[in-house]
Amino acid sequence: MPPILTISALSKHYKSGQKALDGVDLTIERGEIFALLGPNGAGKTTLISIVCGTVTKSGGTITVDGHDLATDVRSARRAIGLVPQEIAVDIFATVWGTVTFSRGLFGRAPDPAYLEQLLRDLSLWEKRDSRIIELSGGMKRRVMIAKALSHEPDLLFLDEPTAGVDVNLRRDMWALVRKLRDKGVTIILTTHYIEEAEEMADRVGVIDGGKLLLVDDKAALMRKLGKRRLTLALQQPMAALPNALADWSLALEDGGSRLVYSFDAEADDTGMPSLLHRLGELGIAFKDLDTSRSSLEDIFVGLVERAA
Ligand SMILES: Nc1ncnc2c1ncn2[C@@H]1O[C@H](COP(=O)(O)OP(=O)(O)OP(=O)(O)O)[C@@H](O)[C@H]1O
Ligand SMILES: [Mg+2]
Repeated sequence: MPPILTISALSKHYKSGQKALDGVDLTIERGEIFALLGPNGAGKTTLISIVCGTVTKSGGTITVDGHDLATDVRSARRAIGLVPQEIAVDIFATVWGTVTFSRGLFGRAPDPAYLEQLLRDLSLWEKRDSRIIELSGGMKRRVMIAKALSHEPDLLFLDEPTAGVDVNLRRDMWALVRKLRDKGVTIILTTHYIEEAEEMADRVGVIDGGKLLLVDDKAALMRKLGKRRLTLALQQPMAALPNALADWSLALEDGGSRLVYSFDAEADDTGMPSLLHRLGELGIAFKDLDTSRSSLEDIFVGLVERAA
């Protein structure tokens, strides 16, 4: 089977002269959740809009499920569902009307049982006869998702799915996305919430200034770049590190009042228990202890700064 999406040398110049995409190559495998991270204006929505056929590309090729987007638009479009960044629906239509109409637009035969299940999964079934104007913002977002899924696409784009939604709804959306993936839908989401990429994605791409700076397995990325820090606030400041602690990678901060241990978060033996034990033996007491992890956010900020 061909990959669900292949993008090669994709470029886009808007008429304004803005270069929004610059030689993007990307292959998306079936069944993955791919997070596209990037600051405002990076080119995320442009990339999605080109694949979804609402913006024309300036150069490059795209195939969706083996269909060339340039020559076989219909088949390609059928395979794709899009939840756009901006809510765009007829606000006077009902929820049920919206999903049935959208399914029909893609030339799919009616399937009320599928649509009922879809609305139930999104907790919208009770609202099926409500007009969209009568729904809350979070419900409207869910209607957008239902609409995008109404024709049973294999590839779903979510452009900033959780921008401006509350924590509970965000969790619900994450659960929903996982459920869709379990059903075999491939998902590409854009987000500013690094937490979201960290939580959800199998792979992460970082885009800035229209260039893909990096694509990698999330786990590999975190492993390669993720270190943990253990910070101990000492009872008594230390002038220098004792030789007895030479086995650990330690540093003193804040005039010797804080002892910082950096270690590989993924290692079998982090060295942390033995360090704490040793400190006890040496009578080095601490008031407080804190661990932190270098996150995707650190990695992301570092990358974007380096590219700037
Ligand atoms: N219709 C348009 N006409 C001209 N320039 C555009 C148009 N749409 C986007 N751009 C420009 O292209 C660049 C990429 O925009 P895009 O919307 O793809 O970014 P984004 O990564 O989705 O940003 P955000 O995180 O803010 O949604 C920006 O510089 C933007 O100003
Ligand atoms: Mg955008």
